Amino acid sequence: MQQVHEYIQRNEAAFIAELCDYVRFPSVSAQSVHAGDLRRCAEWLVGGCARMGLEATLRETPGNPVVVARTPKSKSRGAKRKRFLVYGHYDVQPPEPLDLWKSPPFEPRIQGRNLYGRGASDNKGQNLAHLKAVEAYLKTGTELPCDITFVLEGEEEVGSSSLAGFLKAHRKELACDAVVISDTGIPSLKHPALTYGLRGIAAMEVRVHGPSRDLHSGIYGGSLDNPAWVLSRMLGRLRTDAGRVAIPGFYDRVRPLTRFERTQLARLPFSETAYRKFLGVPALNGEKGFTPIEQRCARPTLEINGLTSGYQGQGSKTIVPAWAVAKITMRLVPDQSPKEILSLAAGYLRKICPPTVRLEVELGHSGEPYVVSPSSPVALAGLSALRQAFGREPYLIREGGSIPIVNDFRKILGVDTLLLGLALPDDNLHSPNEKFNLDCFMNGVRMSAALWQELARI
Ligand code: BES
Ligand code: MN
Repeated sequence: MQQVHEYIQRNEAAFIAELCDYVRFPSVSAQSVHAGDLRRCAEWLVGGCARMGLEATLRETPGNPVVVARTPKSKSRGAKRKRFLVYGHYDVQPPEPLDLWKSPPFEPRIQGRNLYGRGASDNKGQNLAHLKAVEAYLKTGTELPCDITFVLEGEEEVGSSSLAGFLKAHRKELACDAVVISDTGIPSLKHPALTYGLRGIAAMEVRVHGPSRDLHSGIYGGSLDNPAWVLSRMLGRLRTDAGRVAIPGFYDRVRPLTRFERTQLARLPFSETAYRKFLGVPALNGEKGFTPIEQRCARPTLEINGLTSGYQGQGSKTIVPAWAVAKITMRLVPDQSPKEILSLAAGYLRKICPPTVRLEVELGHSGEPYVVSPSSPVALAGLSALRQAFGREPYLIREGGSIPIVNDFRKILGVDTLLLGLALPDDNLHSPNEKFNLDCFMNGVRMSAALWQELARI
């Protein structure tokens, strides 16, 4: 292991340079013009994996390719070796709005201990940390105590639509004892954490159609319903002033937080003023009766992610718009079911929609919430690896973001997922000026190196 550690120490600059190369691919899965960039990024990964000694292949799916890379067959025989699957994604969120970036999103820039670029933290830097840890074993000829398969997909940010089918088709090949994912966060470098829960998600698009075309608002306005009005009133009825989602039945299956969980979450460092300033809002507002940490990681929500109607260009244009659209996602917690929640939401919207317009509700992607035991042997192995890499006692947290595929790993491969995030709260995931902290990166490499020793012993 000494050699592994030295290799990691010695190669920091090379690892960072490789992360820069990785970030340079504009692998934006939401935008079809980038399909070629996604493929090139996947091919680059296959090349990199092969060079470090993994058996790497590019696998076609109905969408973007999946990269599968396995550690070579071990020479040591005897007891059955354990196999772990490391999942990550090489696709990234759209970088827009571009004018808010201090440097171009796909031209990585290092400032102090931060590497700026779209996807640096979510999720390229985090999955590269695992690859580099395994490289350290392979390049120093250090025996890996377990087998590892990397599965890196290119559709996570758009709902992982091809991956479940891929898992089903390759169930045997991907069989493993547990999945490891670094695609979540930690409160700070001094507060490493194991994530034992994620929120689920349910997406939908609500369209209100009014007149057959945009109309002169002076000539016709006042004699018909304006779809922007109708949609805003309907949206207004989705949430109460106390911050609760107003869809009847929405909370019926919500599992209350246990006393243990509330105490754990209360231990986390948190300053309301600093948080408010960091977000840039004059005051916070969330569901009454819960702390901001609880609100964002363990309570369900409904958010409007996009809202469009009428004229958006420069100056004024006096029209009654023909339509109005809202893009909505709900974050769900155990034991809410996305399918059931979507049908409750659509039913409620239909009920409150006036007959003066035509309503269209399109249901989108969804993923179930996830919780796993924080005291299983796999979790304890994760905690030990975190302790070794960060030199601090790790916290147990739940996170508000979603990684829907973890439920498919459970259903299709029959295994649980160990979530060991490396993102910091100020990494600007999905925002302009995304960055990855290089100490998180290097700690991540060391954590991964330690993890295989711990996991091999479970
Ligand atoms: N890495 C995030 C999820 C995440 C971030 C979890 C921070 C916990 C803390 C992931 O890439 C992501 O953004 N997922 C999407 C899923 C959606 C598109 C189905 C999300 O949460 O919005
Ligand atoms: Mn993301």
